[in-house]
Amino acid sequence: MDDAVLSALKRAVDAAPGDLELKLHYARALAESAGRHDEAIATVSEVVAGAPSRADARALLLELLNASPSAASPPEPSPSERPIEYDWSAAEAEVRGVVQPRFEERRAETGGDAFVAERPGVRLDDVGGMTEVKRRLDAAFLAPMRNPRLRDLYGKSLRGGLLLYGPPGCGKTYIARALAGELGAGFLSASITDILDPYVGVSEHNVHELFQIARRDAPCVLFFDEVDTLGQKRSSLRGSATLRNVVNQLLTEMDGVDGSNEGVFVLAASNQPWEVDPALRRPGRLDRMVLVAPPDTDARAAIFRHHLSQRPVEGIDLNRLAKATGGFSGADIAYVCELAAEHALMDSIANGEARMIAMPDLDHALTEVQPSTGPWLDAARTIVTFGDEGAYPDLKAFLKKSKRL
Ligand SMILES: Nc1ncnc2c1ncn2[C@@H]1O[C@H](COP(=O)(O)OP(=O)(O)O)[C@@H](O)[C@H]1O
Ligand SMILES: [Mg+2]
Repeated sequence: MDDAVLSALKRAVDAAPGDLELKLHYARALAESAGRHDEAIATVSEVVAGAPSRADARALLLELLNASPSAASPPEPSPSERPIEYDWSAAEAEVRGVVQPRFEERRAETGGDAFVAERPGVRLDDVGGMTEVKRRLDAAFLAPMRNPRLRDLYGKSLRGGLLLYGPPGCGKTYIARALAGELGAGFLSASITDILDPYVGVSEHNVHELFQIARRDAPCVLFFDEVDTLGQKRSSLRGSATLRNVVNQLLTEMDGVDGSNEGVFVLAASNQPWEVDPALRRPGRLDRMVLVAPPDTDARAAIFRHHLSQRPVEGIDLNRLAKATGGFSGADIAYVCELAAEHALMDSIANGEARMIAMPDLDHALTEVQPSTGPWLDAARTIVTFGDEGAYPDLKAFLKKSKRL
């Protein structure tokens, strides 16, 4: 079947997500097309999840799982033989000032702009739980955006941006994308390693170019991910001229002398806001901070649902999983789901017959994963206790509520 027909089918499926017959038809078509095996599994898994008793869907799923193309290729090295892959680039950039010119590479790849704004399909409704974060985002960002009269009234004070902070893996990037979706705006995301360039002046130029793309594609959310290194207190930059210049360029662009930043919303995320250059947090810049705390029970259920929805599962008790995972980050939960899938797969191979991922697999995975947010929360407690008085009111409230303070 050619790609055009498959695309047409896909559009029909998206238009009628409840039509399981059509979805199953699409899954069969995918299964017959070269290289689309994984998509076929994901699609038929959705059908099985929607109608667990459908024998034809289950049969197709098991058939696909058994005929997994990877089964035909040479066996994967066992985990202990597999070389461990680290992303050293960020650490390297910091320690030795050696950086990869990623911007250049990307420009060569696309033959045009290094970055392209995407139009995210996710909305804030897709972010599970986290009502407090949503409320803050609404007050600080969305309500004034939606209300043009308010915007006129407050004019300039709406310039500047928002800094999302919290432990790693808890949804900062995810929420930033959802916020762009909510605004119907483009989403342009770059991290420190994307921007830095070993040649003098190029990093600053990259920052300028990002703002230019965002201005051209406005309305657009320009998201600076992992700014703790980028925005580091200039005093602690250990003489890194490049980083200092990047911060200065960022300030210049955000100040947008001629009002050219209309429709450009700057968001940033940081695991360690206390490391961020105070100059970046002055009025008109990243002047509002929103805590993205570890996911609450509802959010954890939503995250489990999200990560299991594309896999062949049965008999999943989301409530029980959510209750058993206090202190887990979104990324921890993703890992639990991955381990559970691996466990079911190993079992299937051992027994010579594919089976669904079920609660025992998840329970087994839970014994192997520890919640990762503890150390961050301990560090945060130190900051709140000994740092600037009143600098992190919502963090303080969260720590009190979770009895860590
Ligand atoms: N509230 C949530 N609802 C649904 N998924 C979430 C939520 N929070 C986190 N996730 C999942 O956890 C993963 C890690 O989140 P991410 O935004 O990358 O964390 P951070 O940027 O804070 O390090 C995301 O890919 C997302 O799938
Ligand atoms: Mg992130």
